[in-house]
Order: sequence, then C-alpha cells, then structure tokens
Amino acid sequence: MAKRTKIREILSSPEADYKVTVKGWVRSFRNNQFIALNDGSCMASVQVVIDLNTDENIVKKINNGASISVDGTVVVSQGKGQRVEVKADSVTILGECDPEKFPLQLKNKPSLEYLREIAHLRFRTNTFGAVFRVRHALAFAIHKFFNDRGFVYLHTPIVTASDAEGAGEMFRVTTLPMDNPPRNEAGEIDYKEDFFGRSTNLTVSGQLEAELGATALSEVYTFGPTFRAENSNTPRHLAEFWMIEPEVAFNDIVDNMDLAEDFIRYIIDHALTNCREDLDFLAQRLADEEKQKPQNERSEMGLIEKLQFVLNNRFERITYTDAINILLDSPAYKKKKFQFEVKWGIDLQSEHERYLVEKHFKKPVIVTGYPKDIKAFYMRMNDDGKTVAAMDILAPGIGEIVGGSQREERLDMLMKRMEEMHIPAEELYWYLDTRRFGTVPHAGFGLGFERIVLFVTGMTNIRDVIAFPRTPGNAEF
Ligand code: 4AD
Ligand code: MG
Repeated sequence: MAKRTKIREILSSPEADYKVTVKGWVRSFRNNQFIALNDGSCMASVQVVIDLNTDENIVKKINNGASISVDGTVVVSQGKGQRVEVKADSVTILGECDPEKFPLQLKNKPSLEYLREIAHLRFRTNTFGAVFRVRHALAFAIHKFFNDRGFVYLHTPIVTASDAEGAGEMFRVTTLPMDNPPRNEAGEIDYKEDFFGRSTNLTVSGQLEAELGATALSEVYTFGPTFRAENSNTPRHLAEFWMIEPEVAFNDIVDNMDLAEDFIRYIIDHALTNCREDLDFLAQRLADEEKQKPQNERSEMGLIEKLQFVLNNRFERITYTDAINILLDSPAYKKKKFQFEVKWGIDLQSEHERYLVEKHFKKPVIVTGYPKDIKAFYMRMNDDGKTVAAMDILAPGIGEIVGGSQREERLDMLMKRMEEMHIPAEELYWYLDTRRFGTVPHAGFGLGFERIVLFVTGMTNIRDVIAFPRTPGNAEF
C-alpha cells in the first residue's frame, strides 16, 4: 500500500507538484468533480478534483461519510478558497456510506443536542474534531508542564476503599451477587466475602495517595479518571471526569495558588500557540451561539480575547469573608436576584461564584479561607479556628475550576478534625502515618480536566468536551 500523506501535511506545506496518497472521509461532493476530504489531522478538508471520466460506479459511491483513498498529485489550486488541491489519478472506495441512512447530515447543521445522541459519530463534525484535538493538546501540555518542573506522574488507584472527599458520593465496586449477598451475624452485607475482602468503590480523587507520594518524592501529580455518584444534572457535572492533582511537599497555600495560576496560564498559552486553527473555528462557533442570545446576556469578549485576557492578567485573590461581603453589598443581592441565601458559612452556589467572576471582578478569582464546616477533613486549620487554608479558583462562564488546599500536617489537629467529622482513624492509618513519620507542610489542588477544556474551547456543556459522557441516566456508547 502506498504511504498515506496526512491532509495536515499537504495543507501546511509550501510545496506543490508532488505525488500523494490521501485517505479520509468525504465531507461533500460537488458537481461530480470536487470532493472535500477530511482525515481529522486538521480542521480543514483538502479539495480533491476527480477526472470527469471517472468510472460511474465509483462516482455514485462518493457520498457524504464514505471513506476513500485517492492517488494523485498536489497542485496549486485554480479555484479560490484553497492554495493547493489534489488532482486525482485514481479513487478507491474504502467504505461506502448510504446517504439515506447516514444519521449525520452535515448540510443542515445538526444541533449539539442531536449530536449527543449520535456521540459515536460526532467526531466526524468540525466542532468535535476541533474539541478533541484541543483536548488532546491540553492533556499533552499538562504532562509537559509538570515534567519540565520535575514532578513525578503518580498513577493512583481507581478502585479504593476510602472516600477522599468524605462526601459519600461513591460508586460501589463489588462482585457479590446482588440478589443474594452473604450476610454477617448482624444481618449486614458481609464485604469480607467480597473480591477485595472489604467494601470498595471507584475513586473520587487521587489526592490522599498523591500525598503519600509527595511526602517522599516532593513533587507529584496524578492525572486520571475520577467518579462521583452525585445526582447533579448540570452543564458542568459529569459522573466520570478526569482530574489533575498536583501535590507538593514544603508548599504553603500561597505557593499553591502561584502554582495553580502558572499552570492554568501555561495550558492556555499552549492552546493559543498550538491550536490556533481549531480555536478560531470554535471562537466563530461561540460567536454564532452568542448571537442567538438577548443582547444583555451576551459575553463581552470573544473566545480568543477571553483566553488572552486570562493569560495577561493576574487572578484576583480574595478571602471567603471578602466574597460574602461583596455579595451582600451587591445590587444583585439587594434586588433579591440570588436564588440561594447569602450569609457567612454558606457554601458558595454557582450563581454567587459567577457573580464574583463575571460581574464584579470580570476575571478569574481565587477564594481562600473557607469555613471549616463546608470543606474536607484534610484542609489545614487557620489560626482563627473557624476557617481552613482552602482555595477555589473560579473562572468566568464555568464557576469552580480548581479546588485545593494546604493540608493539615499536624497529627493532633488532623485527628481532632477526623473525630469531629466521624471519619474512623483506623481506616486511614496509612494516611496518618505520613503525619507520624517526618510530617511536612504540603499543599495541592485538583483541576477538573473537562472544566478547563470547556473554558478553552468555549463549549457550554461539559457533555460536549468528553468523548463518551457519563451523567445520571446516561452511559451509552
Ligand atoms: O473540589 P474537588 O472536589 O476537590 C478534590 O477532589 C480535591 N481532592 C482536589 C485536591 O485538592 N487534590 O474537585 C476538584 C475539581 C473541581 O474544582 C472541578 O473542577 C472538578 O474537580 N470537578 C468536577 N468536574 C466535572 N464533574 C464533576 N462532577 C466534578 N466534581 C469536581
Ligand atoms: Mg470543590
């Protein structure tokens, strides 16, 4: 078989007048002569011009969605719209596609909702091609960021017996028969009989294990799937999502904020530098979507402007107490525009977070010093005894994108918190051992991968930035 040349290579090369074999899927076919051929290597399709004498049996199979192989010559294009095109010597049909039955009719722009129903085919659209190329580039940038800084990539377990966040939102993992599980003398299900000899679940976070690594390797990060059985049917929640969790020994909360800010900026910079064609397309998509909204709800910046703005401006840093005061002082509060109550001690709701970033500061905001009662057991207690060294980063259009903290490294304080929160110390003896033997101040955070992909691509529903979304009631494909 002749070596295949990627369409990206052909379109980005200044050369012409050379022989190629291109393979891909037909996006359109005009005048029985011009094929738009796409192989996913870039946004653009290459124009293939076929001879008017091409065998009729082949021509009738050149339909949208069919896969073909073309041998031909790259020539300077006579038409407008492309610099070069492929003049075909021969066309081979690899896989036919019946236009009557093909669910993806690109002519009448399918809606994102419809495309979610045919998520197995949506990669074939420009939008999803762009989203998944950008998603890939961001994953690569993340590994590069940490690798360049000497972090060790730690693979933390997916099956675990602990609930890192203490929120109880876990998917159970078991091989016990559901219809007739073994029971102990008290009549409870006997997990000693289960596969792992104990009750296990899918991880909600790799943090606790990352802390074990950090207290020896100093700088580690995890990047893996996490699972939450929370019944949140929102455009920002998934039941299965990917999370990046750096954990750094000797860092305090300020170092942690600096790291998170540098990290987010680095990712955005990488995308702007390496994914410009895809981002320009996505920016246009977003601009078209915005046009459908009433004037006063449209965002002030386009996608590229927004990314450049985040790149060039420091994030605002405020305390939770400041945030509450700003909300209480806001016109929105006074006009009773908030659905949820605002007072010191509440967990900030999405509407509050979005007010702070989109209306008040108009840039990403890092909120620190949350009340201890609304945060996880492992966060370091502040001297006031009421707040903890937590930090959430809030982004425009998204809300919370990062959650992190300085960790409680003092054994007595940590044990006290666990007792207050009814977390049995015996079960986490291995975690407590890091505090027993050579404990150090340390800090880390979790970035929701799909949330940063949402932010960078300007997509508005998290189901559109992961290939196969898992949400309540939905695990198809
Ligand atoms: O704030 P969270 O729950 O923090 C943790 O899990 C810590 N253990 C992280 C750490 O300190 N190492 O989650 C972290 C981030 C959130 O800020 C959000 O971006 C994302 O994970 N996230 C979700 N993304 C999609 N769907 C969900 N259901 C998410 N829940 C959290
Ligand atoms: Mg959080």
